[in-house]
Amino acid sequence: MTTDLIVIDNLSKSFDGRNAVDGISFSIAAGAIFGFIGPNGAGKTTTIRILTTLLQPTGGAVTVDGRNVLIDKEAVRRQLGYVPDFFGTYNDMTTWEYLDFFAGCYHIPPANRPALITDLLTLVDLTHRRDDYVNSLSRGMKQRLGLARALIHDPQILVLDEPAAGLDPRARVEFRALLQELQTMGKTILFSSHILADVDELCTDVGIIEAGKMVAVGNLQALRAELRATRTIYLTLLGNQLNAALAALSYAPQVTDVTHSQNAEGDWDLQFAFSGDKVAVSALIARLVAAGVPLLSFREEAQSLEEMFMQLTEGIVS
Ligand SMILES: Nc1ncnc2c1ncn2[C@@H]1O[C@H](COP(=O)(O)OP(=O)(O)O)[C@@H](O)[C@H]1O
Ligand SMILES: [Mg+2]
Repeated sequence: MTTDLIVIDNLSKSFDGRNAVDGISFSIAAGAIFGFIGPNGAGKTTTIRILTTLLQPTGGAVTVDGRNVLIDKEAVRRQLGYVPDFFGTYNDMTTWEYLDFFAGCYHIPPANRPALITDLLTLVDLTHRRDDYVNSLSRGMKQRLGLARALIHDPQILVLDEPAAGLDPRARVEFRALLQELQTMGKTILFSSHILADVDELCTDVGIIEAGKMVAVGNLQALRAELRATRTIYLTLLGNQLNAALAALSYAPQVTDVTHSQNAEGDWDLQFAFSGDKVAVSALIARLVAAGVPLLSFREEAQSLEEMFMQLTEGIVS
């Protein structure tokens, strides 16, 4: 059984009468990596600030492990580690001092801090920069330091606002690996991004927000499967066997929009829409072969994440 750690129920927030977040609902199961995706201004940061108890909602409710963020603020904060979208400036503070300072904020006894900070620096790969000034760190290093800070009270949940923004490709890859490691350690993770590619191969679940409303939400694999309910199939037939193929296809109710053309080698290229699952696809291939259709090639259009998002949001990609 999966437990929903975060439940957002009909949440809304308006600024000066305008809805920044407009009645959104979704939940995040323990152990998930949830990608909260949408263009700039969609309402991601507003939602995250409500979740992390920093902003009052206009309506709706958010609970973290069953606790309402408005009522049990302190308990919720203990369970959340938050990495905001802006790091801030810390003059004259070293990496070590920075973490020591925040350990103090969380009332971690001074005697326990050195071991804790040593472990966190190892985790985020900043041991070699422990005595350097925070302001001298690269963007990627600051991002990892922010993560170490968010982990200082060993929260169950990590919330990161645009963690990949402004990172170079290498830092981006390293940061993804770090999030995956944290998931392995049992953390539940929510991160926001305006970049679709950040979702791929990292998230278990995804929620797409546009203009304050959820456009789609759910398990990434399930969303993909749903969108692939209608696929496009391309066949090439050897020689002049078009009629046999068309006859075989005409018996399959899931086949529509058949088009065909002869290619330069005199073989036939066919294209059609197919509204069936993969079992139905394999049955279709068997039927064609049984009908004596000499298949040269068979290809199914693979839908990219970009196409899936375009289909869902009609222009959300920024
Ligand atoms: N403090 C605020 N006062 C007025 N409007 C705000 C405030 N914070 C956010 N907004 C507006 O709410 C909308 C959503 O913003 P935000 O949650 O920051 O989006 P995102 O993080 O997805 O880019 C935007 O139109 C933004 O201008
Ligand atoms: Mg934002």
